Amino acid sequence: MTVRLQWPGRDDSPLDPSGRLDLVHDADAPHGTLLEGDNVAAMRALLSTHAGQVGLAYLDPPYMSGADYVHEGVRARAYGDRWADRGSYLDMLWPRLRLVHALLAPHGTLWVQVDHRASGLVQPLLDELFGPERLRNVIAWRRAPPLGRQVQSRQFPRNVDLLFAYAKGGGARWHPPVTRVPLPSRAARQDPATGRYFTLAPRGDYTDESVARLEAEGRIHRTPSGKVYVKYFVEQGEDGTLYKPRAVDALWDDVAPLRHAPPKERTGYPTQKPEPLLQRILEATSDPGDLVLDPFAGSGTTAIVAARLGRPFVAIDQSDVALATASTRLEAAGLRVRRERVAS
Ligand SMILES: C[S@@+](CC[C@H](N)C(=O)[O-])C[C@H]1O[C@@H](n2cnc3c(N)ncnc32)[C@H](O)[C@@H]1O
Repeated sequence: MTVRLQWPGRDDSPLDPSGRLDLVHDADAPHGTLLEGDNVAAMRALLSTHAGQVGLAYLDPPYMSGADYVHEGVRARAYGDRWADRGSYLDMLWPRLRLVHALLAPHGTLWVQVDHRASGLVQPLLDELFGPERLRNVIAWRRAPPLGRQVQSRQFPRNVDLLFAYAKGGGARWHPPVTRVPLPSRAARQDPATGRYFTLAPRGDYTDESVARLEAEGRIHRTPSGKVYVKYFVEQGEDGTLYKPRAVDALWDDVAPLRHAPPKERTGYPTQKPEPLLQRILEATSDPGDLVLDPFAGSGTTAIVAARLGRPFVAIDQSDVALATASTRLEAAGLRVRRERVAS
């Protein structure tokens, strides 16, 4: 059974390729392309040359916040996020999601980041496009600490963004990230022979065969009474702090809000996202060489992270303030960027 979100302006007419965009991303060519203009026109032009070729798409669209955003440095309006109603917001979003879907490669993954205002609309649209079985994750990222007015209001602070990740097909990239959490030093023991620190856990349901294999790897500890424990080695930081590896789950409260990013990362663009957020997304669900698309590029966070990780990028924005911010940022990072204007 297909569940469809219906609204008065819903338009499902075909979105055909229109115009043409050739991207050159080889060894001597630019690291990526910055397209200036409306992203529907840009993606329709890309469709004629790159349908089914995008390895990862990240969308950070307007959130239906009802606000106008101003660049904090140049004090110029960057973009507006005001909509007559939810229907007009969907009129904007639906064709763009359909175009991204058509551009994605069979192994590609789409990420869409919104907050509580649009998340309930975005998920049914993505379920319809990709199929609910292609939903890989809904990630909760704490984008700001609970402070100020947020704490005074008679509700829990609305400081979380949701990231929806959908795979286009069955063979989507997956490189599970691991993070590290500090460990009190009393929780670990030191191996007198190697000096390495480890924690201990009961053998649980490890078979005798597995215990023998772990023993050969130096990972078995036996108590004087003969009880078997498995050793888990931990890392030691330069300052001596011990860290335990931990699989990253769907709650991302370890990616610091932008306000805690180093000053040279902060561009003053009003809704800029932190580079570590994009780094986690790109490393987990794309490979070097995969084409990365960001149709709502803003200050160019996806582009700069993609280039740093060896992924060619196409970033699109219609705001002059966004394009100026992204260009300055990418040039300062020493990247070769091709800029092209797309006619609407
Ligand atoms: C939330 S911001 C993106 C911020 C970005 N992720 C960053 O880290 O800086 C959304 C961006 O989408 C752009 N935008 C909105 N509608 C657009 C459209 N139809 N075509 C192209 N860009 C659009 C806005 O100008 C704005 O820069």
